Amino acid sequence: MMSTMPPALIGSGKVDFLAFINDGATEEVIHTLIKDYWPSGVLISGGILAALNANHSAASVPQFVVIDISDSERPDVDIERAVKTFHGAKAVVFIGDRNDATLYRTVIKAGGTDYLLKPVDAGELYSTLINASLAASSYTDAPVTQSGKSDQQAKLITVIGVHGGVGTSTIAVNSAYEMAEKFNHNTAIIDLDVHFGTVALALNKEPSVGFRDALESPSRVDTLFIESALVSVTDRLSVLATEERLDDYVKYNGDAINMLVEKVCNNREYVFLDTPRTLIIRFPQLVTEATFVILVTDLTIVGLRDAVTLLEKIQNISPGKDVKVVLNGVRQNADGQVSLRDFEAEIRRPVSVVLPDAPEFVARALNEGKPVRVVAPQSKFINLLDVFCAELDGSELDKTTVSPMQKLFSKFGKK
Ligand SMILES: Nc1ncnc2c1ncn2[C@@H]1O[C@H](COP(=O)(O)OP(=O)(O)O)[C@@H](O)[C@H]1O
Ligand SMILES: [Mg+2]
Repeated sequence: MMSTMPPALIGSGKVDFLAFINDGATEEVIHTLIKDYWPSGVLISGGILAALNANHSAASVPQFVVIDISDSERPDVDIERAVKTFHGAKAVVFIGDRNDATLYRTVIKAGGTDYLLKPVDAGELYSTLINASLAASSYTDAPVTQSGKSDQQAKLITVIGVHGGVGTSTIAVNSAYEMAEKFNHNTAIIDLDVHFGTVALALNKEPSVGFRDALESPSRVDTLFIESALVSVTDRLSVLATEERLDDYVKYNGDAINMLVEKVCNNREYVFLDTPRTLIIRFPQLVTEATFVILVTDLTIVGLRDAVTLLEKIQNISPGKDVKVVLNGVRQNADGQVSLRDFEAEIRRPVSVVLPDAPEFVARALNEGKPVRVVAPQSKFINLLDVFCAELDGSELDKTTVSPMQKLFSKFGKK
């Protein structure tokens, strides 16, 4: 619904997206979002004043609300009232023309989602809204659910990248670390790239002795052998990795891989596989046996093409497999990136999480052989990764995880 509508009419039907805007350029952006994502969305001219006069019943609170506060004389008061007015929405995002950190803090303190500075870009606004809705579905006031050891087989998570360098190992290592240290799950990570793998490097661990044998001969794979080959990183995280010389041909054996994975899954809750993408063709069980497949990609045209190809392949191998698409290294308003909207339209599914390009600590963490949490526990990267891991885990994340100050730093300067 592109036309403006008097506020009094909002309550008359279910509206999933509602925006109160008072400048033409932003209205254009909202029109785009409504056209592409929320056909029953409503744009109302008039910004914060119109929002405060909005008249809807509690049953018809929209899921997503965007409010322009440029013309507010008392933003602190107005923001708080607006958040109350739309209590129950999954995201209430404020936009404005003042580059002022206090406004951001006020929004977060009041329980709003975010404050974005004009000019706002459709992709940025969209990713803010979907990341917030993802967070809304996993946040409660309860602390992270504790879970002890279990006798069950672990959830197997196969992580593949659309091509080298998109951050596959970064996501595998750091998701495994969050599952272990943030969510208290007994976790292992196996680096199936025996030549160029970076998992051991990223965690500053020596390659595991005998891992290569375990990949080649099923007869070598017994529990004792596996447990001695696993190198522990923390009490809850261990790693299996190797660094074979390039001219040593490793004869991966399907039965050996099956046994290896099965043994590592014993008595653990999560096992992550950092998997070179061509391996899933030779060993489809890496997909069929996985609880989830994480497909890591960047926002480039090549990333898009390869994501489409791999999603198709995964679907052929295992129809209906739950694949989580992770966009990594995304830069705001950068040249050479596909728009998030086009990306999702082409892959015909929503992405699960959009992780920012953050070289100042993601790359630094790798250089220092530490997980990102250790280097930058309060970064936006870790906050978003936690929301994503909570979704995988089906567990709850306490609200304090994303504290106002953390988000403040993540937006203004430190990321
Ligand atoms: N979100 C990010 N921001 C900045 N640098 C990143 C990010 N993700 C990964 N990197 C860096 O990109 C490089 C490649 O990452 P890596 O995880 O090894 O990719 P892959 O396993 O897909 O080849 C590394 O230097 C890593 O630190
Ligand atoms: Mg890698």
